[in-house]
Amino acid sequence: MTLDELRQLVRSIPDFPKPGILFRDITTLIGHGAGFSAAIDHLAAYTKEAGGQAIAGIEARGFIFGAALAARLELPFIPVRKPGKLPVPVLAIDYALEYGTDTLEVDPGAVEDGSRLVLVDDLIATGGTALAAVELLRRAGGNVVLSLFAIDLPALGGADRLRQIGVPAAALLKFE
Ligand code: PRP
Ligand code: ADE
Repeated sequence: MTLDELRQLVRSIPDFPKPGILFRDITTLIGHGAGFSAAIDHLAAYTKEAGGQAIAGIEARGFIFGAALAARLELPFIPVRKPGKLPVPVLAIDYALEYGTDTLEVDPGAVEDGSRLVLVDDLIATGGTALAAVELLRRAGGNVVLSLFAIDLPALGGADRLRQIGVPAAALLKFE
């Protein structure tokens, strides 16, 4: 499946979850078996090239792509979670969203010191979420060597912000 075909599988919903937001919905992409598998193939190629040793996925939609990628490559999966979900003492960080604020948490014991981590999420917009996740994973001792997204909204500048903090960023699809 080509990237152009994958692009056709993303559904765009105006004014969700707030007026003025054009929501790029991956439900239709992951609902297409061959499309989902092709997306994971592409992410796997990037991960191998970067020598990734573990996959860190951001709750919730980052778990979908991140966990499938980790399983495809038989690599460990590290959940970067929304607050209050992990049953152990956590490292936590607050961050700003395109439409609100939130907190991310990680179990520091899940991150091997110096491990080459690939950060995965479904989409990057302002980059607030991904930058917070990188900072959290670094504090936990990880070395984030690459960040991967199914979708980038380059007009919002998130991928550039990641590159500025030394994390290469790649996305399968870009939407203006
Ligand atoms: C969405 C998306 C990314 C983030 C991107 O998550 O899955 O994690 O926003 O925005 P940013 O680059 O401006 O930070 P959301 O917080 O809506 O959570 P969900 O995955 O639980 O739906
Ligand atoms: N997360 C942040 N901005 C988004 C958008 N425009 N579509 C889908 N998820 C998002």
